[in-house]
Amino acid sequence: MIRRSILLGTGSALPVRAVSNAELAQTVDTSDEWIVERTGIRNRYIAGEGETTASLGADAARQAIAAAGVAAQDIDLIILATATPDQTFPAAATKVQAALGIDDCVAFDVAAVCSGFLYAVTVADSMIRSGAANRALVIGSETFSRILDWEDRTTCVLFGDGAGAIVLGAEESVDGKRGILAAKLHADGRHNQLLYVDGGPSTTQTVGKLRMRGQEVFRHAVVNLASVLREVMDVAGLSTDEIDWLVPHQANARILDATARKLKLSPDRVVVTVDRHANTSAASVPLALDVAMRDGRIKMGDLVVLEAMGGGFTWGACVLRL
Ligand code: UT7
Repeated sequence: MIRRSILLGTGSALPVRAVSNAELAQTVDTSDEWIVERTGIRNRYIAGEGETTASLGADAARQAIAAAGVAAQDIDLIILATATPDQTFPAAATKVQAALGIDDCVAFDVAAVCSGFLYAVTVADSMIRSGAANRALVIGSETFSRILDWEDRTTCVLFGDGAGAIVLGAEESVDGKRGILAAKLHADGRHNQLLYVDGGPSTTQTVGKLRMRGQEVFRHAVVNLASVLREVMDVAGLSTDEIDWLVPHQANARILDATARKLKLSPDRVVVTVDRHANTSAASVPLALDVAMRDGRIKMGDLVVLEAMGGGFTWGACVLRL
C-alpha cells in the first residue's frame, strides 16, 4: 500500500479593508496605470486593528476544516508559513491552535517568506507519509502591510495581507495515484540582499522594513520557477502537458506570463489572483488555490502544480492529484 497526503479542503481569509490602486495613489507617488502595466495588480487588502497573521490564519483554517468535513480536534499537525508572525515567539501556529480549540497537536511556524507555503506543505507531506501525522492543517498567512515602508513606492504598492489554508489527510491506496505526488525545495542564501527585511530581534532589535531590488528578483524568479517546475514534474514522472492547473506565487502578472511562456503552458491553465490580492507572500498560493477550488475551476482528478519563489532566495514546487 502507498501512503499519501490527500487534499481534503481549502479555505481563505482577507482583511475587511480593500485598497485600490487609485486609493493608494492619493498618498503614494504612483498611479493606477503604472501599477497595472508593470505588475497586473489592481487591488490589495490591508489588515486593520485586531486583524493579525494568526487571526486571519485561524479564519482561513476554519473554512478549510469545514470544507474538509473533519473535526478540528482530529487535526494533529499545524504548520503555519509566515514572515510576519504576531509575536517573535511563540509561533503563530500555536495561536491558531488555541483559536480553533484544539487541545493537543504539533504546531510550529515555517519561515521561507513567499515560498513558505511550499516549504510547509512539503514538511507536512513528509510527516504524513512517515506516519508522524494523519491530518495536517497547513496555513500561509501574512500581514506584510506592517513591514512595508510606505515612503518607498517601489515596494509598498506590490504587497497585501491575507491567509489561505488547506487540510491534508493520510490515505493508503494500492496505486497511490491521488494526493501529493512529488515536491522539490531549494534555497540559495547568497541572495539575501536582493529581498530582505532590514531589522530583526538579533540584529537591530526592531521589526524592520521590507527592501527589494525588484528587477534582479524578477530575473531570478522566472528562471527558478520554470526550472523547479520541470524538476518536480520529472520527479513525479509526468510531463508538463499533463498539468491541468498551475497555481503559482502571485507576485507579478508579468512573471506568471513569462514562466508560462517558458514552459509552453497555456495561460488558461494558470490561476491568477494577483490582480485582486497583490503579493501576499506565503498566503498567495493557498489563497489562489482556494479561489480556484471554490469557483469550480479545479475539480476532482485534476493534476495541480503549486510553486513559489521568494526571499532567501527560496523556491519550490509541488505536484498533487486531487
Ligand atoms: O514575492 C517575492 C518575489 N518578488 C517579485 O517577484 C518581485 C519581482 N519584481 C517585480 O515584480 C518588478 O521588478 C517590479 C514591479 C518591482 C518593478 O517593475 P520594473 O518594470 O522592474 O520597474 P523598475 O524597477 O525598472 O522601475 C521603472 C521605473 C523607474 O523609474 P525610472 O528610473 O525609469 O525613471 C521607477 O522609479 O518605474 C518607477 N517606479 C514607479 N513609478 C510609479 C517604481 N515604482 C513605481 C511606482 N509608481 N510604484
